[in-house]
Amino acid sequence: MSNSIFRPVISAGDLPEGQAVTVSIEGRDVLVSHGESGFFAMDDLCPHNGSRLGTGKIRKDTVSCPMHGARFDLRTGECLAKALGCQSIVTHQVRIADGQIEIALSEFPVQQPMV
Ligand code: FES
Repeated sequence: MSNSIFRPVISAGDLPEGQAVTVSIEGRDVLVSHGESGFFAMDDLCPHNGSRLGTGKIRKDTVSCPMHGARFDLRTGECLAKALGCQSIVTHQVRIADGQIEIALSEFPVQQPMV
């Protein structure tokens, strides 16, 4: 669920496919990424051990955590590294308006790391 208040965060032209950037929205760090299927947004906090995902590698529609390599689906936040037992990451709504990527924060709280 979302409060549906969209906020512009970066020009879509400044985020080529395969790149991601971390922005702060209302004190919440959000990873804005450009995957194979488009633009996505999720909390920038790995639920395994709390690493930031901003320097993780984007491949197709996934991002890998730079600390232990867990991959997450950019579209759903699902952890694809079942062996690590990670929870999913909260995702946020994204739209493009006037060439700007706009994000509406999810009302779900930030997932806390396992440790
Ligand atoms: S902290 Fe991200 S996979 Fe371990």
